[in-house]
Amino acid sequence: MTILTSQNPGRTLGAETARSAHGTTPVRTTVSVIGVGYLGAVHAASMAELGHEVIGLDVDVDRVGALNDGRAPFHEPGFEEILRRGRDRDLLRFTTDYAELAKVDVHFLGLGTPQRADGNGADLTYLQAAVDALCEVLPARDGAPTLVVGKSTVPAGTARMLADQLEQIDGVRLVWNPEFLREGFAVKDTLAPDRLVYGVRDPEDVEETEQVVGMLDAVYAQILERGTTRLVMGYEAAELVKVSANAFLATKISFINAISEMCEATGADVTDVARAIGMDDRIGVKFLRAGVGFGGGCLPKDIRAFMASAEDLGIGESLAFLREVDAINERRRARVVDLAAEMLGGLEGRRVTVLGAAFKPDSDDVRDSPALDVACRLRTAGAAVTVTDPEALGGVEKRVPGMPTEADLDEALRGAELVLLLTEWGQYKELDPARVRELVADARIIDGRNVLEPRQWREAGWEVRSLGRP
Ligand code: UDX
Repeated sequence: MTILTSQNPGRTLGAETARSAHGTTPVRTTVSVIGVGYLGAVHAASMAELGHEVIGLDVDVDRVGALNDGRAPFHEPGFEEILRRGRDRDLLRFTTDYAELAKVDVHFLGLGTPQRADGNGADLTYLQAAVDALCEVLPARDGAPTLVVGKSTVPAGTARMLADQLEQIDGVRLVWNPEFLREGFAVKDTLAPDRLVYGVRDPEDVEETEQVVGMLDAVYAQILERGTTRLVMGYEAAELVKVSANAFLATKISFINAISEMCEATGADVTDVARAIGMDDRIGVKFLRAGVGFGGGCLPKDIRAFMASAEDLGIGESLAFLREVDAINERRRARVVDLAAEMLGGLEGRRVTVLGAAFKPDSDDVRDSPALDVACRLRTAGAAVTVTDPEALGGVEKRVPGMPTEADLDEALRGAELVLLLTEWGQYKELDPARVRELVADARIIDGRNVLEPRQWREAGWEVRSLGRP
C-alpha cells in the first residue's frame, strides 16, 4: 500500500494549491464546518485563524446566535479570542441554513456521534442527517471540485458508506480526517497537531488520491509548512486510528488504576510505581495518573462504540479487553464512595463537599464526569452533597437538576464533614490545609486525583485517604 507522507506528498492539484502546500503563499479557501459543537466550533475558528473564509453551520439556533455574537458556548482557553478575531476580520460567520453552503469548496463534518440510547454503538443520526442535507445543496456547484472532510469519530466503514452517497454528485470527493484534540488544549491541538491523518477511498489510486490530498493540503498549508507529518491511508485505517488512539489512552489509564487496586491491597504507593515505570520510554509517564478514572465526551463512549463495532464485525472477542478497561474505570468511582462511607461510618445525612464537577480541569464539560458521577452516587446513598467547580456548575444544573451547588469555594467547604477532591483544578491543588481546616466541620479529605501532598495535609491535622496510596 502506498502511504503518502508530508515528506513524500506526491503531486498536488493545481498550481495554486501546490504552492500553498509547499511554498509560502497561503491560499484562501472557502470552508464550511457542519456541526459546531466542541470540535466543530474550534475547527471553524481555527480555519479562520489560518486565513480561510469560514461558515459554521448548526441546527442549534442559540449556539449559532452566541457564536455570531463572538461568545464561546463552552469554556476553552484561547477559543473566544480566535472566534472574535475571525468575526472581526470578517472571515467567520455561523448559520442554520444549508443553502448558504452551496458556494463553499471544502466542507468539514464536525458532528457528534454520541453513544446510542439503545446500546453501546455510535449514534450516526446527526452525521447522516448532515450528509443528506449537504447532498441537497451540492448539485448547485455544477461539478466544481468539492471536498467533504469527515472529522467525527466513527466506526470503520462509515466513511466508505458516506462516500458512496456523496460521490454520486459530480465533482464531490470525501476524505476522512480524524481529530485528536483534547479539551483544554483544543485550539493548540487544532492549529499545531502532532500529525494529520487523511483517509482516502483507495490509496493505490495515485491520481485520485493526489487530487483530494492536494485540496486538503491547501487548507492545512500553514500547518504542513511547519513540518507536521501528514499520513495518507485508506478510509478504514483513518477511522481506526482515531478509535484505537482513544482506546489505548483509556487502557493506559485503566491499567494504572488496576495497579492502584494492587497498591491498595499491598500497601504500595501507585504514584511511586507510575513514576518509575513511566521512566521507561517505551511506556512513558503520560496517562499514568491513577485516580477516579477517565470520563468526558470521548473516551468512555468511544471504547464502547469500538467494542460494538467489533461485535458487528463478528470479532467481538478481539476487543473484549475493553470491557475490563471500562469496568476498572467504573470500579474506581464505586471505590471512592466506599471510602467516603468508611471514613464517615455511613453516608446518611452527612455533609460532604465535592471539589470539581468537570471531567477534567480547564473544562466546563460534565459529560460522563467521574466527579459528578461520584457526587450523584453519594447523594443517592443519602449524603448531603455540595458540589463546587470554577466553570462547570452551569452544566451540573442542566444535567443533574436539583444537585446542590455552590460557586464560592470557601462557602462550599464551610461545615463539611468530608471533602472529596475529584477534579484537579489548580486552585484545589494549591489549597492551604491549615486555612481549609478553619472552614470545615471535620478535617477529612479524599484525594481522588493524587495531587495533594498527603504528609503536608496530615501534619495540618487532616485524615487523608487517596486512591492507591497507603
Ligand atoms: C481525549 C483524547 O485525549 C483526545 O485525543 C481525543 O481527541 C478526545 O478524547 P479529552 O476527552 O479532552 O481527550 O480528555 P483527556 O485529556 O484525554 O482526558 C480524558 C479523561 O482521562 C479525563 O477524565 C482525565 O481526567 C482522565 N485521565 C487522563 C486520567 O484519569 N489519568 C490520566 O493519566 C490522564
